[in-house]
Amino acid sequence: METIFLGCDHAGFSLKQNILAFLTNMSVQVRDLGSDHGDASVNYPEYAHKVVRAVLANPGSRGILICGTGLGMSMAANRFPGIRAALCQEIYTARMSRLHNDANLLVMGGRIVGPGLAQEIVLTWLTTPFEGGRHQQRLELIETLSNQSLEYPEGDPT
Ligand code: RB5
Repeated sequence: METIFLGCDHAGFSLKQNILAFLTNMSVQVRDLGSDHGDASVNYPEYAHKVVRAVLANPGSRGILICGTGLGMSMAANRFPGIRAALCQEIYTARMSRLHNDANLLVMGGRIVGPGLAQEIVLTWLTTPFEGGRHQQRLELIETLSNQSLEYPEGDPT
């Protein structure tokens, strides 16, 4: 399996440490990109950006981001083309985010999920393959449409 890059802010630090140990115990190749500052307040977009850069620079790799709710990390990461960040706080979404969405980033809320559930989410997400087929076409459509102008050439119809 390719490298898994980890990132968090202060609200996700404790869960990130737990997931780091969990993955290391399973002999998954993992790189911790911070935060390294424990509970000290840091800005989640900076850690989202670090993990996004690493994932895009290493084809086949994936990332895990953890903040308080998972919302800020999701919003920050999904601004970048080629990133498909999935906020998963339970198993079903984690599974579907791989099967249908080929998510290359898993996002969780350290103030939402406990360590036991988070480990199950991570395990499911890491071991579920992408189904491809019609789902691949839809992913390509996301990229195509997001590159198109949002202007109405004939004037706003609304
Ligand atoms: C930090 O207090 C919190 O806002 C952050 O971790 C995250 O939940 C933002 O979406």
